[in-house]
Amino acid sequence: MNEAFARLFEPGRVGAMETKNRLVLASMDDNMADRDGFATDQKIAWFRRKAQGGVGWIQTGYVYVTRRGRGCTYFQMGIYDDAHVPGLRRLTDAVHEYDVRIGIQIAHAGRQTTHHYLNGLQPEAPSPVPEPLLGETPTELSKVPIAEIHEEFVRAAVRGREAGFDLVEIHGAHGYLHHSFVSPLSNLRTDEYGGSLEGRARFSVESVRALRAALGSDFTLGYRISCDEFVEGGFTIDDVCKVVPMLEDAGIDYINVSGGSYESVKMMIAPAGIGPGQLEQYAARVKQAARVPVLSSGRYNTPQLAERVLESGSADYVVVGRALIADPDFPAKARAGRAEEIRPCVACEQGCIDRWFSALDITCVGNPEAGREGLEGWETIDRRAPTGRHVLVVGGGPAGLEAARTAALLGNTVSLWEGRDVLGGQLLLAARPPRQSEWGELLSWLVRQVEQLGVEVTLGRTADPGAIVGAGADAVIVATGARPAPPRWVEGWDSEKVVDAFAADPSSRAQAVAEAMCRYDR
Ligand SMILES: Cc1cc2nc3c(=O)[nH]c(=O)nc-3n(C[C@H](O)[C@H](O)[C@H](O)COP(=O)(O)O)c2cc1C
Repeated sequence: MNEAFARLFEPGRVGAMETKNRLVLASMDDNMADRDGFATDQKIAWFRRKAQGGVGWIQTGYVYVTRRGRGCTYFQMGIYDDAHVPGLRRLTDAVHEYDVRIGIQIAHAGRQTTHHYLNGLQPEAPSPVPEPLLGETPTELSKVPIAEIHEEFVRAAVRGREAGFDLVEIHGAHGYLHHSFVSPLSNLRTDEYGGSLEGRARFSVESVRALRAALGSDFTLGYRISCDEFVEGGFTIDDVCKVVPMLEDAGIDYINVSGGSYESVKMMIAPAGIGPGQLEQYAARVKQAARVPVLSSGRYNTPQLAERVLESGSADYVVVGRALIADPDFPAKARAGRAEEIRPCVACEQGCIDRWFSALDITCVGNPEAGREGLEGWETIDRRAPTGRHVLVVGGGPAGLEAARTAALLGNTVSLWEGRDVLGGQLLLAARPPRQSEWGELLSWLVRQVEQLGVEVTLGRTADPGAIVGAGADAVIVATGARPAPPRWVEGWDSEKVVDAFAADPSSRAQAVAEAMCRYDR
């Protein structure tokens, strides 16, 4: 084991559950369920691949406990019916094969959804306060439906246990129902579920109590909380430090600290330029207030950073989301002392959360395997027998570099021709705007990979049919890039004063950036 990450790979215990290390795959809804919330083969393959990579504990994304509690996408998982259990059992079995624990995150959206996605059902919440981004005005929950929702959570949790999950987590964060009860912005009630912090926390406390009573003392139960709303007038870290002991008294085994809601999404899912570790100080505050283990999330994108968080005592577990999409082998590589081989997540969000908000299954700009794990061939890609052919890749941008890497991994002899005198293609341009320089880390990683795999790179070499035939390759991959789509919907797009980013970026400047970033040795 690599001593540098001794804390990260220390076994841990949370309630009745033991874990082999301190790395948790963050809950990430992936839009890979079917329209009725059933787990699909694609979803199972997605989680199996994460388990193969060595993470100790996997959390599912949002799983709705009732159809009325679905979030704002059709393809979330549901657990509102016993019929969901067999599919979920296949999922937990797949993960357990790798000695990895898996928890189910059960949730109700409250007002943070739309009629449309709820199949015409009316959203419900503590008070009829419109959701600021989605615009829905929910109906106010009276006491009978509140009791029914507690029942729905209990039934969902029991089904989760039947399906083989090692723990149940209540999604109390990110603006959904539990969060909206705690928030003074969305809870204007004057009964016992509103008013003081204690009143606003009552729904969550009752929810934890009901689940603890149903699950017994020997089953792990957790709660995810936003450490601060990061919206003026919302609850703050000071409030959260008072709510956590209430949840502990009600029976939670751990607290999973995230942040924000849709209104402050940048603190929840930090884009490039915010973070890494933007929520660590908040987890550290909760840690001081809590008796149970604390989990912390928020762009922990390297094992070095994760190790430091554990070492400094800010949290007991580090929750990693997008970096494990970019490279599910992050844990295995760190453990083997090969951290520099981890493919970096550049927080571009294009493949993950942007696609999620468009109701598409998630993937990754940097990792073409992500979301396609179930397709034939992907699972065994690094282990196939060498094919021993000569592959010519034309184009040294991200697609060409990735194709060359994969072809070389498969045991081929690979040549790569790039027309410019620098590798990188559009990545060079992508790294230019303010706060976007992390694209350069992906480029550096790709360049290092092709170097290490012995790809023969020729710069300043353009391809034409004669040259390609002359190269005598067994296979040719053309990866010469795309042309930008003109933004015809913008008035004046074709005026002389408008230039696209390519035209505004003289290649000499791009080359200087590239050289500084990846120092490719010609
Ligand atoms: C595509 C996507 C889906 C997410 N879905 C959920 C979810 O269902 N439940 C949840 O608690 N958090 C969700 N999150 C937030 C993550 O759990 C995590 O807190 C966040 O991405 C920050 O961690 P990271 O910077 O390591 O990605 C989601 C994030 C992403 C990118």
